[in-house]
Amino acid sequence: MTLPFFPITPLAFDVGIKIPVDLYVQHAIDASPVHVLSFDDVLDAGKLARIENKRLLAPADTVAKQELRRLFRQQLETAIEDGSMAPLRKAAIIVETLRGDIDEAFTSRTTRLMVETARRWGKLLIELLPPLCLELNDYYGVLQHDGHLGSQATNLSIYSFILASSFQFDDKELEEFLMGAILCDVGRIELPEDTTAGVQQNHSTDASIPRSHAADGFNRLVRDAIVTRPQLMMAYQHHERLDGSGYPVGIPGELIHPWAKMLAIVDTFENLTCARPQRGTVTRRQALTTMRQEAGITIDLEHFRCWESQILEPTKT
Ligand SMILES: [Fe+2]
Repeated sequence: MTLPFFPITPLAFDVGIKIPVDLYVQHAIDASPVHVLSFDDVLDAGKLARIENKRLLAPADTVAKQELRRLFRQQLETAIEDGSMAPLRKAAIIVETLRGDIDEAFTSRTTRLMVETARRWGKLLIELLPPLCLELNDYYGVLQHDGHLGSQATNLSIYSFILASSFQFDDKELEEFLMGAILCDVGRIELPEDTTAGVQQNHSTDASIPRSHAADGFNRLVRDAIVTRPQLMMAYQHHERLDGSGYPVGIPGELIHPWAKMLAIVDTFENLTCARPQRGTVTRRQALTTMRQEAGITIDLEHFRCWESQILEPTKT
């Protein structure tokens, strides 16, 4: 059942903000949302305490989404200028702004807007994320794992940034790679269930996503002149597997583009860790255990080991 709410991270809110929509908290994954803050409430310490570390929900209607997008865009401008703001709060604001923009682009069902949004955010992310000096486990706490298409594209871009840090990417390549990560599922743009935010729905398992989305995404992107060949391959091949068991073609590993192989690592992790009502929550470690069995067989072993080390042995530089 789709609930008319979508999750947002409480960390993106701070004292002094005027709340633009009614907000709710959900005390358990199957519990009914409880109203906690009203439209136009100004957050003070007491009100902030009511949402901190809670599962916070906003109504999934168009107006509420627009109002929150406007708030987070303003917040982002402040965050960029504010040298004293905690990195984790900045990350939460970046993530919510990015997610709102991607959601808007997906909802428009316009490939051109998706490409332009991905291009802009590819550039922004390589400016905004490195100074935060955060690790995967930090980002994991401010990302949403609800299986919604906008959340998944957001997560893939952040995860791709983390994974790429283990490899020799210059800024231009990294920008291109992150843009490709945001765009890889553009072939799902026409799926009506993906354009409606939900709290407990999930459309992210391989079994529930039409396999045609990889080729559909390629066919949409190939008509856009600013999309590069590696980005096309990321969309077309991110479900291909080393042993030829993937789709849309079933090509062997040596024919899969290196960036599509890298994306397959974070895409697999995202699909394993996003919410699935029928199985409950899968932890990062459980996801790694599953992926470890596939490493070197269907997914690249070196890429997996780098990803695993980001979770098990994080090292701040
Ligand atoms: Fe996909």
